[in-house]
Amino acid sequence: MKSLETERLILRQWEPEDADFVLDLYSRWEVQRFIGSPPQVMGQRAEAAERIRTWRNIHQQPMAHPSHAIWAVQLKSLSGTPAPLVGTLLLKSIPASGGALPLQPSGDTEIGWHFHPDHWGHGYATEAAGTALAYALASGLDKVVAVTAPANTASQKVCLRIGMTHRGQTDRYYNSTCELFETTTLH
Ligand SMILES: CC(C)(COP(=O)(O)OP(=O)(O)OC[C@H]1O[C@@H](n2cnc3c(N)ncnc32)[C@H](O)[C@@H]1OP(=O)(O)O)[C@@H](O)C(=O)NCCC(=O)NCCS
Repeated sequence: MKSLETERLILRQWEPEDADFVLDLYSRWEVQRFIGSPPQVMGQRAEAAERIRTWRNIHQQPMAHPSHAIWAVQLKSLSGTPAPLVGTLLLKSIPASGGALPLQPSGDTEIGWHFHPDHWGHGYATEAAGTALAYALASGLDKVVAVTAPANTASQKVCLRIGMTHRGQTDRYYNSTCELFETTTLH
């Protein structure tokens, strides 16, 4: 998995010792409320450790593209001391809606972001996502989608800030009705 760097951030592989941050992030309702159906907060550190193991093996997912990654987003260290983690940036296969579980991959790639509320309002999600989207396209993907719950205006603003186009609502993914955003190099 390739690490990425922006002006203020590093996007790197998740490590087992990041589990406390993962639990802190995903145990918060304000983070989880628009994710999953139904949304559920994380309760145990063991779930965080398992999540990290899954993320580190994202390349083994069916229909994974070489650029697919789930990065830990960390502030750059200014003083040499370790800087805080701020969130998760995802570039992965998006499941198609369908009858049987688990849902099967659609063949499309989605970009997504989950940031810690202590670090909202600084443009970090937009900065990380813009770099990851550029990386995806430079790696040969000709289309990247993002889906949000209709009420998730904060996430919709990130989509628009990184230049994605709003395509209205779709039922195509995750067995749910989502706002669809897209970037494509195809014309
Ligand atoms: C979606 C989410 C990542 C958005 O976080 P965010 O901090 O609002 O988004 P950004 O990092 O792009 O920051 C933009 C905000 O920072 C402000 N900002 C401050 N300094 C900035 C800077 N240097 N550069 C850019 N923006 C800056 C912007 O004005 C903007 O504020 P506004 O929305 O009030 O106008 C966050 O709400 C989240 O993690 N939610 C929970 C998980 C979730 O729902 N994920 C999406 C599932 S589809």
